[in-house]
Amino acid sequence: MNINGTPYRTIWLADDGRTVEIIDQTKLPHLFETVALTSMDDAARAIRDMLVRGAPLIGATAAYGMALAMREDPSDGNLSAAYDALFETRPTAVNLRWGLDAQRTFLAPLAPEARAEAAYRRAAEIADADVAICSAIGDNGLMLIRHLWEGKPDKGRLNVLTHCNAGWLATVDWGTATAPIYKAHDAGIPIHVWVDETRPRNQGFNLTAFELAQHGVPHTCIVDNAGGHLMQHGEVDLCIVGTDRTTANGDVCNKIGTYLKALAAQDNGVPFYVALPSPTIDWTLHDGIRDIPIEQRAAAEVTHLWGATGDGDTATIRVIPEGSPVANHAFDVTPARLVTGLITERGVAAASRRGLATLFPELADRRRA
Ligand code: MRU
Repeated sequence: MNINGTPYRTIWLADDGRTVEIIDQTKLPHLFETVALTSMDDAARAIRDMLVRGAPLIGATAAYGMALAMREDPSDGNLSAAYDALFETRPTAVNLRWGLDAQRTFLAPLAPEARAEAAYRRAAEIADADVAICSAIGDNGLMLIRHLWEGKPDKGRLNVLTHCNAGWLATVDWGTATAPIYKAHDAGIPIHVWVDETRPRNQGFNLTAFELAQHGVPHTCIVDNAGGHLMQHGEVDLCIVGTDRTTANGDVCNKIGTYLKALAAQDNGVPFYVALPSPTIDWTLHDGIRDIPIEQRAAAEVTHLWGATGDGDTATIRVIPEGSPVANHAFDVTPARLVTGLITERGVAAASRRGLATLFPELADRRRA
């Protein structure tokens, strides 16, 4: 996608063929800065401190982190040490484990001297595959959006609500929840997006609004609690969100607050779709509320806010009283029964074991075997 007219992916290899470059997402939308990752530690820090975030991009960065590690030391010992160090960076997005497993399975049988080059190649394949998957999610979601829009008696604007950032910044390109939105906009469907704030880190305001604006998609920023009110007044035709981990039975873990949107959507008869690439499905889990680890993040994300000041600078301010205790659960789980459908690269599935297994029989079978 474009930033100020220049096409970018969220992660790419520098001209030296070794350094990995990323966009520092902690600075958007007020500052645009790229960061060079030259070691496995850099990659781990970028994931932990959320310079990169979003499940698919976390997976791709971890895959490149393994390549950086193999350049530093391609021994068996470092293969497993790098896996462990990267695995510990963030607990909820299962794409992290997926990217690391893909690398370890590929690299382990190779002679150490062949590993670095192979790891870079595999990381590039993972990144390219993510772009293709997200584009396919966009095509499948577009069919759904077109159908909804054609069913609107007035053919007026189609209002989509999204939460957090499951946009191109959360993937390598296109996004998951935003891919159908971009494709619908490009196809001439008058789409408008309600962008949830997404406290505490404001990924909706900082990232989703930024990227929609860059692409010229009409949108309106709303505070986190406005969605239910808009749904009651017929102002939301459809919700589409992303996910960090979806269990084999279709329970969806996503940014904190997603569950409340799904409840409001069900109460108001608004379709609630989740867009996801297959690496986000955790075939080993069958009960999202019980089994998905929910990341607890630093209190500072809740106690403070970062933004631009009137004089063009940026500043961090405290927004709660000194000394008040804070809890910061980063994700929640929306039970499958509240999800209208899962938009994947292979089509739209029911949020159920059977729905997912019908679209991905080989993955479901491998887990059963
Ligand atoms: O904490 P974050 O910013 O990594 O959380 C991101 C989300 O919750 C996204 O919705 C999810 O990763 C899907 S990204 C395509």
